[in-house]
Amino acid sequence: MTNSQSQVYPVVWHHDSVSLIDQTRLPNEYTIVEIHRSEDMARAIKTMIVRGAPAIGVAAAYGMYLGAREIETSDRHEFLDRLDKVAQLLRSTRPTAVNLFWAISRMIKVAYETFGTVDEIKQTLLETAQAINAEDLQTCQAIGDNGLTALPTTPNQLTILTHCNAGALATAGYGTALGVVRSAWREGRLERVFADETRPRLQGAKLTAWECVQEGIPVTVITDNMAAHCMKQGLIHAVVVGADRIAANGDTANKIGTYSLAIVAKAHNIPFFVAAPLSTVDFELADGSQIPIEERNPEEIYQIGDTILVPSGAEFYNPAFDVTPAKLITAIITENGVFAPVNLAKFQLKQTV
Ligand code: MRU
Repeated sequence: MTNSQSQVYPVVWHHDSVSLIDQTRLPNEYTIVEIHRSEDMARAIKTMIVRGAPAIGVAAAYGMYLGAREIETSDRHEFLDRLDKVAQLLRSTRPTAVNLFWAISRMIKVAYETFGTVDEIKQTLLETAQAINAEDLQTCQAIGDNGLTALPTTPNQLTILTHCNAGALATAGYGTALGVVRSAWREGRLERVFADETRPRLQGAKLTAWECVQEGIPVTVITDNMAAHCMKQGLIHAVVVGADRIAANGDTANKIGTYSLAIVAKAHNIPFFVAAPLSTVDFELADGSQIPIEERNPEEIYQIGDTILVPSGAEFYNPAFDVTPAKLITAIITENGVFAPVNLAKFQLKQTV
């Protein structure tokens, strides 16, 4: 897979390294960063060069292979021990998006279950990372198309509000929430996207708007505190957001501000959809109260670029995600269909019988 600016693939295996689109520099600069080592991949995830739950899962899978490649031993036990350390490093980068942990666990499982030489295990790890990458792309396309069946049937051309960036940049490509937007646009069902700017890091203003502009999808950027006003004016027909972790009861962690958006959507009778792959569902957590919430550096709040916004002496709280209770979510759009949040647990039962 290669990158052109209208087909966006944020994580690409390229000869013997991983190419990442540097998402900290968009929309002003389109820069590719080449990653050769697992520590550099860990740093790229932590500093949000690559971000978005499925994309960091794919990046971590390649990070596991890069780490495996660095291990110089032919002894299987020593190799697996050292691979566990690579996994630990990658797991320590960001706590909320479960796709990171899901992808690393899948890579570890494959390593333990491959019998053969260390070189053969390494080769299998590369193939597994590539499979995770390719599967995520297909999954997003399926989410996009399934989303079409969930959207309101009237009016024929919809306006969809989204929060943060759950687009191609946040996945292997195509996107989850923006996957639904892309499919709606392709089918002539979309009038325009409203993109919340998404304080403090502005993923909506910088990344979602960039993706839409690349594809000619009409996009209007609003500040986060304008959503209720736009809804009251009848400007929004549906809200579609992504997810970082969904608990078994459907409670959903996503970018900070998602919860208040769900409340105002409910107050205005506007359907509120979560679009996410099943790898984002953490069936081990009964509800959202157990989802770990990342807290980030206060400078994301008190500073924009080099400009300090707040007088010294003030204190800060900077949670990067919040949890939207399942009761505020109309439906969860996945690659396997559209579920009411209460039916997620039933889906897991069906999978295990
Ligand atoms: O902090 P970020 O930019 O990684 O947060 C991203 C989000 O909250 C996305 O909505 C979520 O990961 C879904 S991406 C398909």
